[in-house]
Amino acid sequence: MIICVGIGPGSLEYLTQKGQELIQKAEVVAGFTTVVDLVRPLFSQHAEVITMGYKDQVAQLEKTAQLHHEGKVCVVVFMGDIHFSGFQFLERVERACGHSVDTLPGISSAQVLASKAKVCFDETTFLTFHRRGDIEPFKQHLVHALQDHRNAIVIPLPWKFMPKDISFFLIEQGIDPSHQVEVWEHLTQREASWQGTLAECNRDFSDMSIMLIRTLHPMPSQL
Ligand SMILES: C[S@@+](CC[C@H](N)C(=O)[O-])C[C@H]1O[C@@H](n2cnc3c(N)ncnc32)[C@H](O)[C@@H]1O
Repeated sequence: MIICVGIGPGSLEYLTQKGQELIQKAEVVAGFTTVVDLVRPLFSQHAEVITMGYKDQVAQLEKTAQLHHEGKVCVVVFMGDIHFSGFQFLERVERACGHSVDTLPGISSAQVLASKAKVCFDETTFLTFHRRGDIEPFKQHLVHALQDHRNAIVIPLPWKFMPKDISFFLIEQGIDPSHQVEVWEHLTQREASWQGTLAECNRDFSDMSIMLIRTLHPMPSQL
């Protein structure tokens, strides 16, 4: 059996009880090295650990799929929640296995940010640039979301389309530079936050950062 598990935003306090049980019972735990390392204290003594990076992920997932087909209990760990910016990796897991696999949701960094910044997801568009392929359609979607007076929670594309690039792009597209922005780094771990306007968002952040752009026209709260 094989299941993909969202481990939450970093701190083990945010891992679900079900996720913890699956990881503790797994005979094989696979995932990106940085993600695997976060849950390593939970592994059974005899667990086989398969770590990977961007370059060897296909080969390492094939190795994991092989063990799954041999009958081993396998868990593939994902950062946060699989259903937030995790589907390209999920597709790679399914391609390696040759069939669809089950997923266990976790708490996303987007949800922790929504809680920190007190924004309602109903009025917020989630967008990720942390993906392979053409990000242009997603850039346009972000412009439209802000034009529609929605908040936006955005995962940047590490080093290529970071918060300062996103802000510059939006201003260039005619979005009001006075939109309030928050950038949070390493949520639930070494948390740091920055607040300012789109116009002021010109500093560098780490690759573990997530951005909120608040609408200028919040919906009246509904009682
Ligand atoms: C491929 S995306 C996966 C997102 C994940 N599935 C989730 O639900 O949070 C990875 C990016 O999410 C953001 N991220 C994940 N965890 C974070 C955290 N604890 N604090 C800030 N940003 C985080 C960072 O931008 C990171 O580069």
